[in-house]
Amino acid sequence: MTYSAQLISLLKSRFPEKVSLNTITAHLNLSNSEALEVIDTLKEKGYPVQSISDHYQFSVPLINVNSIKSGLSTRTLGQNLIFKDRIHSTNALALEDLASFSHGDIILTDYQTNGKGRMGRSWQSSLGKSIAMSIILKPDIDNKKAVLLTQLTAAALTKSLNSIMESSIKWPNDIIVNNKKVAGILTESQFHGDSLEGIVIGVGINTNLIVDELDEEIQSKATSLFHEAQKVIDPNLLIQSFIRWFDELYTSWSLTGDSSLFISICKEKSIILNKEIIVRNGESNRLAQVIDINPFGDLIIRYKGEEALESLQSLDFSIRGNQSYI
Ligand code: BTN
Repeated sequence: MTYSAQLISLLKSRFPEKVSLNTITAHLNLSNSEALEVIDTLKEKGYPVQSISDHYQFSVPLINVNSIKSGLSTRTLGQNLIFKDRIHSTNALALEDLASFSHGDIILTDYQTNGKGRMGRSWQSSLGKSIAMSIILKPDIDNKKAVLLTQLTAAALTKSLNSIMESSIKWPNDIIVNNKKVAGILTESQFHGDSLEGIVIGVGINTNLIVDELDEEIQSKATSLFHEAQKVIDPNLLIQSFIRWFDELYTSWSLTGDSSLFISICKEKSIILNKEIIVRNGESNRLAQVIDINPFGDLIIRYKGEEALESLQSLDFSIRGNQSYI
């Protein structure tokens, strides 16, 4: 383990206590000046380290696998939490080496450098102030059903956010608070010939980031829980609650094949149901009324001026509000 990694782990394990320079030097077996260099390295990388008279701490809680695990009673999901100090993309890592992961493994980081969004977009994170995680599933289902997993994940996310604040779902994969996006879901499948090798469900949540840290062009559409709830968010409690909800909804669905439990949550939390939206598919933009979300997770709409209902599958479309993002 590098000195930086040792210091990160020390500050995480002691959070919210401040750690004295003496403790750091003893723990890392370094001189004062060497330890101060390691602290500077963390600051230069962008870790939220703050100091008060020779005592150091992270200014916000960071992901700590031990605190997520404590009290997590799920049987498969999240039993293996794989934490990466720094990673290009948790989804990309999972897909690059899918064979080495098992059903229910979860990859986590608070330092994702090249996050992927839906439809080839990128996903921005802020070091130590966002959650990036990927759930790896190896179920015996066809890809048509895999599409439903985005809806299941959205339902689990809004339920787990309830203890912080009310949130809604903008079909298929955006989690919204106060009309801005606070989290996104990217579900990717990998095939070996015709057979489904695995499904990776990526979840990115803006926890404690300051909105100014995001690129200017997304600042009008994106926000963070910290910004909206005006309080520091503990990522570990949120991840724990999300894993529990996901596990409950997934277990029930895989036993019964009935999606109604999470689809009803998606409908109840939908911010676009019964509203007018713009459906984007490639170059085309069409006005439509949202009628329903069906048991397959498709959005049922009626294009303006038409009689017939159409069902949209999440893979092909993106949608916008009639006047703005929502
Ligand atoms: C979107 O809203 O477009 C989807 C965003 C998904 C971001 C998450 S962060 C963890 C996982 N790894 C990635 O590279 N992307 C997803």
